[in-house]
Amino acid sequence: MTSVTSLFAPVEAELSALSANLKKLVGARHPILYAAAEHLFEAQGKGLRPAIVLLIAQATVPPGQGISARHRRLAEITEMIHTASLVHDDVIDTADIRRGVDTVNSLFGNRVAVLAGDYLFAQSSWYLANLDNLEVVKLLSKVITDLAEGEIRQSLTQFDTSLSIEDYLDKSFYKTASLMSGSAKAAAVLSGVEPELAEQLYEYGRHFGIAFQIVDDLLDFTSSTEALGKPAGSDLRQGNLTAPVLFALRSKPQLEPLIERQFAQPGDLQQALGLIEDSNGLALTKDLAAKHARSAVDCLAGLPPSVSRQALIDLTEYVLNRLY
Ligand code: FPP
Ligand code: MG
Repeated sequence: MTSVTSLFAPVEAELSALSANLKKLVGARHPILYAAAEHLFEAQGKGLRPAIVLLIAQATVPPGQGISARHRRLAEITEMIHTASLVHDDVIDTADIRRGVDTVNSLFGNRVAVLAGDYLFAQSSWYLANLDNLEVVKLLSKVITDLAEGEIRQSLTQFDTSLSIEDYLDKSFYKTASLMSGSAKAAAVLSGVEPELAEQLYEYGRHFGIAFQIVDDLLDFTSSTEALGKPAGSDLRQGNLTAPVLFALRSKPQLEPLIERQFAQPGDLQQALGLIEDSNGLALTKDLAAKHARSAVDCLAGLPPSVSRQALIDLTEYVLNRLY
């Protein structure tokens, strides 16, 4: 399988500068934030979100022009918002480990973690405002609201077996796809593209993000704790009912009482996992992710052919095949 970092080749130089710059931006004022930032941006994933921003930037700038300083700053803001949401998420989920590394809450306590997350959100807003582009400010501030909305929806629907696939997809948009769609469109807006193309790129990010979240939810059932870098199977245990469970509920009604009583009896969770594995839930989940990945590719039709456009296409394939 192609590694995801090889897909980032067209924007590799920008991406490697990004991580160092983020640590400087975040850590300049407070040693504790520097420690948190150093830890965060090292342990972070591979920079998928800023890579999408930079690839779209490169695919949309007028011929002869390169990625601008504002595009780079937008990529940094996108990663800052993502990181802030994860710092808060790990407090909410009482997670001790992410990507195989101790979380900020486990190292510094909840109080510092909440404040560090707040600080990152606040700082991203400051840099966002300084881009001096009202449309981009609107796009990204809507993303921050959406992240909170997604997390609230998720906590309000724990162990709720009446949740529909549509509700699940809406929540996935808020939690994951909004950031990808908003920042994809913002990159195109900074390049000065026509509104129609900017909207298509928003749709690329939306479908891409939904496919990404569906695969993430599938991997929680099919991957090992080592491969994930966090405990496997935690979604179901916490009552976060994702696509595999929602599909399985249709053909395995025995699942419902187990979930409704929140796996209170010994063996409940194991039995539920067995029922899901035995159902067509995992296959249907894969199909749903593939459908969104195909729709994402269709949204790139308005971009002229380029290596960056090809990388954006290949990324959808990577999302479907990723191992963790
Ligand atoms: C990961 O979910 C979490 C998110 C993608 C979004 C988290 C958003 C918030 C906590 C809201 C942010 C707050 C403000 C003030 C805007 P997950 O737990 O399913 O994934 P994981 O397995 O990677 O932890
Ligand atoms: Mg979490």
